[in-house]
Amino acid sequence: MTVLRFDNVSKHYPGGHVALADVGFEVAEGEMLFITGHSGAGKSTLLKLIHLSERPSRGAVLFGERNLMKVRGRRVALHRRDVGVVFQDHRLLTDRSVFENVALPLILRGMRRGEIGKRVRSVLDRLGLGARERALPTQLSAGEQQRVGIARAVVGEPRLLVADEPTGNLDPTLSAEILALFASLPERGTSVLIASHDLGLVKRMKRRVLVLDHGKLVDDIAPEDLADE
Ligand SMILES: Nc1ncnc2c1ncn2[C@@H]1O[C@H](COP(=O)(O)OP(=O)(O)OP(=O)(O)O)[C@@H](O)[C@H]1O
Ligand SMILES: [Mg+2]
Repeated sequence: MTVLRFDNVSKHYPGGHVALADVGFEVAEGEMLFITGHSGAGKSTLLKLIHLSERPSRGAVLFGERNLMKVRGRRVALHRRDVGVVFQDHRLLTDRSVFENVALPLILRGMRRGEIGKRVRSVLDRLGLGARERALPTQLSAGEQQRVGIARAVVGEPRLLVADEPTGNLDPTLSAEILALFASLPERGTSVLIASHDLGLVKRMKRRVLVLDHGKLVDDIAPEDLADE
């Protein structure tokens, strides 16, 4: 089963700047892969097309059977339930507790309070944040804050998780920890696509790597073809 497909996707920003040129690839259900490339190569743009923060200029993005071109209006929010997003700066609400930050996506979809409590606590325990649920984000370390961002992205059990430079602000030990967390998601039914310019880190993970260069997909490297450092 294919969870995501890019079909000859191009993206030109206003002003004529080409961010993606004729990009095509598929992601299988349960896959974890990376997207890498120089600054400005188009990594963030590619992820934005998946969670509908941007629209392609040409080509089609398919999410399972869903053609994202046809997803408009109210359906955008419904689509986003299926795509968890982790940002580099995690974008937590600073005046809300860890628990409330993670509960928010479930509250927005109208889930019962009892069910929300159960789900949030289970995710927080899994990410080692069980004891911190009442803390405010500012009372947490950088690594803990990033884990709250991940908890919020996975609490709704999305089919796909996209993460944009999720380890950008973290030291190597924490980065490895966060990536190990991502690696545990596919077995729970969530595919994972991570944008990162940290080639060393990406290679150590031994997963498929897509390489963008000036908006073009120039390589699609299988794990077994990743050279050891
Ligand atoms: N909103 C925008 N308007 C105009 N141009 C944009 C916009 N967003 C991105 N671009 C341009 O599109 C190209 C791709 O940008 P993108 O942010 O996708 O790159 P990136 O690979 O994520 O880079 P980085 O590693 O620095 O995050 C860049 O040249 C950038 O300047
Ligand atoms: Mg980027």
